[in-house]
Amino acid sequence: MSEIHADKIAPSSITIAGWVRTRRGSKKFSFLEINDGSSAKSLQVIVDASISNYSEIERLTTGCSVKIQGNLVLSPGKGQKYEMQATEVSVFGLADPETFPLQKKEMTLEYLRENAHMRVRTSTYSSIFRIRSRVSFAIHRFFVERGFSYVHTPILTTADGEGAGESFKVTNFDMAKVPKTKQGQVDFEQDFFAEPSMLCVTGQLEGELLTMGLNKIYTFGPTFRAENSNTSRHLAEFWMVEPEVAFANLEDNMYLAQDMIRYVVADVLENCSDDIDVCVQKTQNDTRGYLKMALENPFIRVSYTEAIDILKKSGQNFENPLFWGCDLKSEHERYLCEVHFKSPTIVYDYPEEQKAFYMYLNDDGKTVRAMDVLMPGIGEVVGGSQREDRENILIERMKAKGIDASHMDWYVSLRRYGSIPHAGFGLGLERLIMWITGMGNIRDVIPFPRTPGNCKY
Ligand code: 4AD
Ligand code: MG
Repeated sequence: MSEIHADKIAPSSITIAGWVRTRRGSKKFSFLEINDGSSAKSLQVIVDASISNYSEIERLTTGCSVKIQGNLVLSPGKGQKYEMQATEVSVFGLADPETFPLQKKEMTLEYLRENAHMRVRTSTYSSIFRIRSRVSFAIHRFFVERGFSYVHTPILTTADGEGAGESFKVTNFDMAKVPKTKQGQVDFEQDFFAEPSMLCVTGQLEGELLTMGLNKIYTFGPTFRAENSNTSRHLAEFWMVEPEVAFANLEDNMYLAQDMIRYVVADVLENCSDDIDVCVQKTQNDTRGYLKMALENPFIRVSYTEAIDILKKSGQNFENPLFWGCDLKSEHERYLCEVHFKSPTIVYDYPEEQKAFYMYLNDDGKTVRAMDVLMPGIGEVVGGSQREDRENILIERMKAKGIDASHMDWYVSLRRYGSIPHAGFGLGLERLIMWITGMGNIRDVIPFPRTPGNCKY
């Protein structure tokens, strides 16, 4: 109930509208906890039995929606500073306790995931989604304050931006002509765009193009990956923040990622403390300690080669093979930042074979100027790089990775006319929110999770 300002309180008449979280009471009066969704805090409302529709009030249960008029007064009870004495209550909608799935008793996250359309009505998820809103807003402010232009890159594209073949194909068809019973078996064969098109896996390549005229840009939009990984860190549709900076190198990129994450953390700690409290209570994972640490200490930087050394010397029995050139798996990433450094960690200069075609090839010919930012409890939150700005080397790397450079000449040509050193990264919004809220499953930080086998709601 965010609109109530403590400093203005004299007994004053107010009107609120919201949902009943709980009701307890007797024949003489009822205590209602009302929440209107604007903050984690509910308002306690006392309804005296002398009110004309008291029998209706006695039927109120969790989830009912009401409008209440009354006076806001200092509360004599513990747990809240103010309470409301109702003079009039009208009921918008009842919520039959026999069928309404959310009741007073605490629901598990697993249960709520099965009833995803109900989640936002719980205190945990409404707090998470308010934090998500605040984080998004802080990200925009961070970039705008630094002179970045916010650009919109396409969602429909013909370029597989990561060259990883994990995209969703796009086709057109006339749903109206398909009988309802056959809709699962539609033949999706037409190509609207004359060439195969897909949902974007990244906005980076178009973002690079836009830096050529705008200097510093960022995108912030949905991206889609058809990787069939049913893990607690992967979604088929997730939101990515992608800055791209002209005349920047890998080190500038590291500072930018660190500054952005710290800016967001400071903002959330200052403005979302009630919502963080709700998350901590649910997960028993008090994230504030490590969030504050991240504000105070620079992120650790370690090259991939040093990281492999550390992992080899760790004496850990990792499930996945460990050798120079191997892909760092989640268990490796988490060992580095959670156990070894106990800090957000930036791993840089990865083997060339592992990374995408657009990354700058180092003089050793073996590594590229890539960076991943790893967070304790999560692993990779940011992936980025300095971009290859030499046309001939870019074409060679595309060839080696089986990518048709002529098909992407618009991209290659950025290196032909007024080429510039430039760098950028992608931050997975949901992974950042997992780290901030302490939630262990990525499905719990997005209102409508899309995962293999699940595109409901
Ligand atoms: O490391 P990725 O694949 O990098 C890119 O897409 C670059 N084009 C970004 C750039 O340089 N502009 O993805 C970036 C981040 C990852 O670090 C991770 O946080 C998130 O996006 N991410 C996912 N989040 C949820 N579900 C998935 N399937 C994700 N795949 C990547
Ligand atoms: Mg990555």
